[in-house]
Amino acid sequence: MSTFRAPKGTYDLIPPDSAAYLAVREAISAPLRRSGYGYVETPGFEHVELFSRGVGESTDIVTKEMYTLTTRGGDRLALRPEGTASVLRAALEASLHKAGNLPVKLWYSGSYYRYERPQAGRYRHFSQVGAEAIGAEDPALDAELIVLAADAYRSLGLRDVRLLLNSLGDQECRPGYRAVLQDFLRGLDLDEETLRRVEINPLRVLDDKREAVRKQLAGAPMMRDHLCEACKSFHERVRDLLTAAGVAFEDDPRLVRGLDYYTRTTFEFVHDGLGAQSAVGGGGRYDGLSEMIGGPALPSVGWALGVDRTVLALEAEGVTLDLPAATEVYAVPLGEEARDLLFGAVTALRRAGVAADLSYGGRGLKGAMKSANRSGARLALVAGERDLAEGVVQLKDLESGEQRAVPADGITAAVREALG
Ligand code: HAM
Repeated sequence: MSTFRAPKGTYDLIPPDSAAYLAVREAISAPLRRSGYGYVETPGFEHVELFSRGVGESTDIVTKEMYTLTTRGGDRLALRPEGTASVLRAALEASLHKAGNLPVKLWYSGSYYRYERPQAGRYRHFSQVGAEAIGAEDPALDAELIVLAADAYRSLGLRDVRLLLNSLGDQECRPGYRAVLQDFLRGLDLDEETLRRVEINPLRVLDDKREAVRKQLAGAPMMRDHLCEACKSFHERVRDLLTAAGVAFEDDPRLVRGLDYYTRTTFEFVHDGLGAQSAVGGGGRYDGLSEMIGGPALPSVGWALGVDRTVLALEAEGVTLDLPAATEVYAVPLGEEARDLLFGAVTALRRAGVAADLSYGGRGLKGAMKSANRSGARLALVAGERDLAEGVVQLKDLESGEQRAVPADGITAAVREALG
């Protein structure tokens, strides 16, 4: 094993590719910041019980995928596998819900950890941008969040993201449906583990991807035929608002999510160019989660979009983002005195908002010009002894190759003019 190898299921973001990740995070969070969502940041780890109680004791995430550890002090902690439970915990701890301004709207961006079998688009360390609206039972809030996610994808230039929508009912209608579904599932030819799942978490069985199971599920009872009146009309409102906002969706009565806290609205954004790991984002309403982790009743809704998979979706569609140049001007000093002058010039350019870099380490003209070209800069500033004696520096257009002398005391103005 080489020492220079990131752990299995992880990868590093390195330039120039890392710029796309930053741009995706920015594109997803921009619509949230314009819509009343405040930034929240929580620790990378939490007490294990937060997730076992919140995400669900029987979910794959909790039973198989959590990175847990015991501290020297004896605390049982888990690297966060998702953000919703943490953000709700933080909001409750800070009593944000008591400030009289519900819903509490929060957004976040960070790293998450799941011990999954790595494959294309599925990593053990990945990145999400998420949003949670805590403390309001209003279908317009569900619609708002979905519209904001759809707008984010669109602003990135993605065209092939599809929105799947479902309702998982609530504590009124779900138990009845669960029983009907269990009756149906118990009559199928299923392996032992799946039969165990039927008893603990029958809805998850609907999500089984194996052909032999899928075939048998053809006639399974669906939640949508068992929704109570309140859930039905809530769901209709969400659908109407999405339609009014011009956001296309597909009803997917089989959409169940991998986390147990969902009630009513659930949705997933999928991209067909990604193979098996097609979900680029997902979320839903979680009206009971606050009580599950020991808080007051706080009906809430949220989503998290996967940054890694969104970048893969951009690649799959061949979208190149219009990223600002990392370096616009590259300065090449030839000699000590020139370095002092150009160091000052680069500092002034940066302060004026121009992205500028300098050749370090006393490199010769040839090597430094290579770096200038590699940096992607449009302009180079070159200064040698003769230039200094004349009180000028050479401003070179790296695209056309044209070069002209500009006064050493007017560099910022000359660069600005040349950059247009
Ligand atoms: P999730 O569906 O588990 O939901 O994750 C959201 C997104 O994170 C996925 O759609 C996917 O793009 C990305 N993702 C998940 N696991 C991986 C992985 N192993 N590798 C790469 N990307 C991954 C949640 O996490 C919920 N907390 C969403 C939510 C917020 N619900 C309500 N509020």
